[in-house]
Amino acid sequence: MIDIAVDVGSGLTKVQWSEGRAFFPSLSGAVEQSESFDYQEAEGAEVEFRERKFLVGEKAKLSVMPSQLENTLDDRWFESDAYLALFYTALSKTLPEDYSGKIHLCTGLPQAAYRACTEPLIERLAAKHTFRVNGKRYRTSIRREDLQVMPQVMGLFISQLRRDRSLQVQKVALIDVGTYTSDWTIVEDCKTAHWASGGMPVGIADVIRRIKEYLREDLGMTASDAAISRAIRLKKIQWQGKEVDLANKIAEAAFDASQMIIEEIDKRWEGAKDATLIVGGGGGPLFGPAMRTHFAHARVVQDKEPFFSVVNGYYTYLTERRKQKAA
Ligand SMILES: Nc1ncnc2c1ncn2[C@@H]1O[C@H](COP(=O)(O)OP(=O)(O)OP(=O)(O)O)[C@@H](O)[C@H]1O
Ligand SMILES: [Mg+2]
Repeated sequence: MIDIAVDVGSGLTKVQWSEGRAFFPSLSGAVEQSESFDYQEAEGAEVEFRERKFLVGEKAKLSVMPSQLENTLDDRWFESDAYLALFYTALSKTLPEDYSGKIHLCTGLPQAAYRACTEPLIERLAAKHTFRVNGKRYRTSIRREDLQVMPQVMGLFISQLRRDRSLQVQKVALIDVGTYTSDWTIVEDCKTAHWASGGMPVGIADVIRRIKEYLREDLGMTASDAAISRAIRLKKIQWQGKEVDLANKIAEAAFDASQMIIEEIDKRWEGAKDATLIVGGGGGPLFGPAMRTHFAHARVVQDKEPFFSVVNGYYTYLTERRKQKAA
């Protein structure tokens, strides 16, 4: 049976399987069955199931009005068909065409949605699924016992445990900084402490917004979010043939956004001095230095592409479970 790990984030959907990993923007919107678009050049997918059609990724961005795209910040978006369309797109990356069979699946939910949405999500996913992605048909069935749903931040923990086994016996505080949201928890004995867990809608998007304002107001420059996201990673942007250094502005914006998270966390963690503190997610490298001004002992995840850490943890969970079963 195939092991598949899927992390549907508010900004990026990530998938990992035995042969690799992939990601695409979490953009998804329904279109009329009869509509057909000329979007050959765009990346993404056309997903059909239960007589509905969705566009996903770049294709959705080009062809669906922004107001018609699924809002990934809605509390209940995990129950939407648009969410399922992202899921199916992820599965299609891993399965051979015309696949028909069972899969082992591990996925997760943000802390804020975990309690309320886990059971409904299991209900939806532990079922038979027939869908088409870009015209190719897939049929999978997922049994309850072959499905694991965990808090996303637990995926981050497992991925780091793989690098450092000693975390198993430590008290580990984790902060997962994502696109639109951040989640946190404390893990002890490989269990998350409810009192120490939470999340809030602050993430990389807040830094993008601030840099966007700065570029517009100070330089009269309008740049797309994608261009700013790239500029944030490079710490600079090209404008009128010149290079604009953004390092200080980015650090400032990341510092301010981090303060909001720290304020929330500190009410519960009391400095977390007795814990190993790990900052990860796609926003780890961006928020990490600012987090360290408050939590001096914070370590930033060293994964090459830190937005893959959570899904990597899910995949590790599946392979470890397989080994345990075989033993
Ligand atoms: N190489 C890269 N390619 C694309 N995005 C990147 C890259 N490096 C960092 N990023 C940033 O990381 C973000 C994705 O991070 P991550 O996957 O952790 O967030 P998420 O899971 O979508 O969000 P959340 O956890 O809040 O739901 C992107 O939106 C982008 O801003
Ligand atoms: Mg995430």
